[in-house]
Amino acid sequence: MTVLKFFIDTADIDDIRRVAAMGVLSGVTTNHRMFAKRPKSAVEVLQDIAGVVDGPIVVEVVSLDAVGMVEEALSLAAIHKNIVIKVPMTIEGMKAVHRLAAQGVRTAVTLIFSANQALLAARAGAAFVSPFIGRLDDISVDGVELIAEIGRIFGIHGIATEVIAASIRHPIHVSQAAKAGAHIATLPYLVFEQMVKHPLTDRGIERYLADWDTLQKG
Ligand code: G3P
Repeated sequence: MTVLKFFIDTADIDDIRRVAAMGVLSGVTTNHRMFAKRPKSAVEVLQDIAGVVDGPIVVEVVSLDAVGMVEEALSLAAIHKNIVIKVPMTIEGMKAVHRLAAQGVRTAVTLIFSANQALLAARAGAAFVSPFIGRLDDISVDGVELIAEIGRIFGIHGIATEVIAASIRHPIHVSQAAKAGAHIATLPYLVFEQMVKHPLTDRGIERYLADWDTLQKG
């Protein structure tokens, strides 16, 4: 049985703390754009994150060749045992995934837009694959259907690689990804907030506070 886990898609330690405090956070995905906004070094940021979340922290490499990716990956992996290396879906990326798996370093293959890409990444030894729902929707292709297709294929072939539903833009994507069998949904902080909210919940709270007030006044 798949139990959907939530990752947060940010390197913002305050947002990470907010979601961790809700007790729903199992990991973090980051990219370079996110580190660029932080005053601390990437290593410090990653150490801070590891102090808050006891789960995968996905960090990307910048090299485009396998040798460079592996070199970067090994130094990133040395920062903390929970670091997972984000590798792009390319032939060089697959070579890096294969070499890193042999050295016990977990990888998450990113920029997955087809089931065949996911299959190759899994066979190369990726611990995770990240299909991008929102970016497929952007070009009028059903992103959620890709999650379901990968899930069916991995199920038929007993592939243990976990599927991270990425490029999630709104709460409907989250429930759709859950129904499609994603193992993980990685969400921007705003989507966590949006998931909590419902106008009837707010109205219900207002109503029982008003009832309490009435009761107090006797
Ligand atoms: O999880 C991947 C995410 O960072 C990309 O999201 O909205 O740029 O497609 P987006």
